Amino acid sequence: MKDPITISITGAAGNIGYALLFRIASGSVFGPDQPVNLNLIEIEPALPALEGVVMELDDCAFPLLNDIVATSDLNEGFKDADWALLVGSVPRKAGMERNDLLSINGGIFTGQGQAIAANAKSTCRTLVVGNPCNTNCLIAMANAAGLPKNQFFAMTRLDENRAKSQLAKKAGVHPSQVTNLCIWGNHSATQYPDFTNARIDGKPVTEVITDREWLEGEFIKTVQQRGAAIIKARGASSAASAANAALDTVVSLITPTPEGDWHSVAVATDGSYGIEEGIIASMPIKTNADGSWEVVQGVPVDEFSQGKIDATIAELKEEREAVKDLIPA
Ligand code: NAD
Ligand code: LMR
Repeated sequence: MKDPITISITGAAGNIGYALLFRIASGSVFGPDQPVNLNLIEIEPALPALEGVVMELDDCAFPLLNDIVATSDLNEGFKDADWALLVGSVPRKAGMERNDLLSINGGIFTGQGQAIAANAKSTCRTLVVGNPCNTNCLIAMANAAGLPKNQFFAMTRLDENRAKSQLAKKAGVHPSQVTNLCIWGNHSATQYPDFTNARIDGKPVTEVITDREWLEGEFIKTVQQRGAAIIKARGASSAASAANAALDTVVSLITPTPEGDWHSVAVATDGSYGIEEGIIASMPIKTNADGSWEVVQGVPVDEFSQGKIDATIAELKEEREAVKDLIPA
């Protein structure tokens, strides 16, 4: 058995939290020989509900669950964390865009970024799920003085999974046959699910699905609006699929990416693809055998794609401007 690793999760008593914790505790994320400590962080009013979640974790008697901390104290919650999964925040309601939440949720990520820097391991990796996740991640990263920027991520994997599923349905294949699907930019209605480079059974999607009008129109719109469609249908935002995507993201960041493929996650921009530094944007990412990651270079960007990427990057810059008071100079 390996030494336990510590996973800190905010919003642990919420809907996504409930769908996340048990899979981590069961070993299905970090492996069957990897014990885990769960540091569960909630706001004080939610601590009684969190206590119930802890009781259920106890009642599973998971062999790999080493220790549980349930707390509203950020210093205790992020102590020695190997991973910080920042889920806790308010979800949007029908009729809102995700960045309408910036004024409600943005402030949460200043204190959390500071507490991660002060308490977590220097190697701690942070994945932001709470919306608007790209800009919340920027706030957390900017407030986590001393931690490398390449340890901060925001989740666009749900969008990737949604896009693969839509393409698979249209082509009459299984979603696992769809590869090389990059979500560019923001987890918002401007995101660009790049069908031009995606592949089905190794063939360009555009050769398998020849209905270009559908690809440029309904496909992109369905993926961009899927979160809103779920809120309309369920009366609550996606939770199980969001938790699943968060765990897919973690697994993809700790597992070498299959040769030639990539996965989508929003990272601190480094100038790749002409996207300016200083925002958190989703790009094609490859995880290396040594556990490091890099932006996959050389993915072709045609004129249509460039227009879409420019629009989503412009929105991220506007969001950054809106939260400039939360970002230390
Ligand atoms: P929820 O309301 O069910 O749960 C949120 C939990 O966070 C609550 O238990 C609440 O008490 C807690 N919380 C609030 N502020 C907190 C703080 N400062 N510290 C710690 N905990 C805090 O919501 P949910 O359905 O679990 O969604 C959580 C967030 O994830 C929302 O912002 C939602 O929009 C977002 N989300 C993102 C994606 C994505 O793809 N990036 C997908 C789905 C949902
Ligand atoms: C989603 O994509 O399902 C989440 O970001 C929730 C939302 O507000 O759409």
